[in-house]
Amino acid sequence: MIKVTFIASDGRTFPVEIGEGLTAREAALFNDVPGIDGDCGGQCACATCHVLVDPAWIDQVGRLAEDSMEADLLQFAEGTTAQSRLACQVKLDARLDGIVLHVPEQQY
Ligand code: FES
Repeated sequence: MIKVTFIASDGRTFPVEIGEGLTAREAALFNDVPGIDGDCGGQCACATCHVLVDPAWIDQVGRLAEDSMEADLLQFAEGTTAQSRLACQVKLDARLDGIVLHVPEQQY
């Protein structure tokens, strides 16, 4: 199991566990973490699964490639930073065990 901690914009923390190979979107939705909608089903088509990777984890997750579809979609998300990723594109493996992801105040 991979441990993931989601931190809401109001400071509440949501520690969850999920099987290796699933995504951060699934970790949030399967555990009722508020603030991550994931409307497109994880198809990288809606940007409602925006998360901010904790700075301590961004190198392990990897920064966005500027010419990626994910980067294009994130242009439509609120409050993006250099740590922004789409949770549906963050596949969880042993390298990311213990990752911390911040949930933005809103997805629209
Ligand atoms: S769930 Fe739609 S872009 Fe991630």
